Amino acid sequence: MLEELRFESQVHDSKAFDCGTPVLNEYLARFATQHRRRGLTQIYVLADSDRPSMVLGYYTLSAAQIDTAQISEERRRHLPRFPLPCFRMGRLAVHRDRKGQGLGKLLLGLAVERCLRAREEVAAYALVVDAKDENAALFYRHYGFIACVDSFTTLYLPFGR
Ligand SMILES: CC(C)(COP(=O)(O)OP(=O)(O)OC[C@H]1O[C@@H](n2cnc3c(N)ncnc32)[C@H](O)[C@@H]1OP(=O)(O)O)[C@@H](O)C(=O)NCCC(=O)NCCS
Repeated sequence: MLEELRFESQVHDSKAFDCGTPVLNEYLARFATQHRRRGLTQIYVLADSDRPSMVLGYYTLSAAQIDTAQISEERRRHLPRFPLPCFRMGRLAVHRDRKGQGLGKLLLGLAVERCLRAREEVAAYALVVDAKDENAALFYRHYGFIACVDSFTTLYLPFGR
């Protein structure tokens, strides 16, 4: 059974994780634990309960803000001019052996659900993501994310109108 868990370096074999993008592998293996300790990000992994140490995919979430000028003109009309509170999914990656099996979609859905729950306590306008390239940006656009005005690799998913 697939489980979403908080990343624990003693439990999850981060060094064995390979999504095909070295910088995303290195983040999990070298920086994730210290970033969480410093309050910079939370890291969630997907693992199979039959083999709990193997990371099938992961995402990170942090608090963030976005400049109103980055929001599409139509939406911007209804928004204040100060920076908007949001959540940022700084990283999302699926193990290279498990790509194309719906795990990216599953992780994205879990991240959105987590943000919606957190948003009941602390307001946020959108979930912002940083796509590593144009191809990754297409993945997010597939799910309704909108590119920022000044960057097609930074996208946002508004939670409301
Ligand atoms: C991008 C990534 C997370 C997608 O994960 P995945 O498990 O292979 O994707 P899924 O199997 O869940 O695909 C879900 C849907 O997205 C679509 N999709 C996947 N990659 C896509 C892409 N690059 N562009 C457009 N659509 C894409 C699939 O066709 C599928 O569509 P469907 O639900 O209509 O059938 C994964 O390929 C990955 O880890 N890539 C390397 C790291 C990366 O690019 N991270 C992105 C953020 S920087």
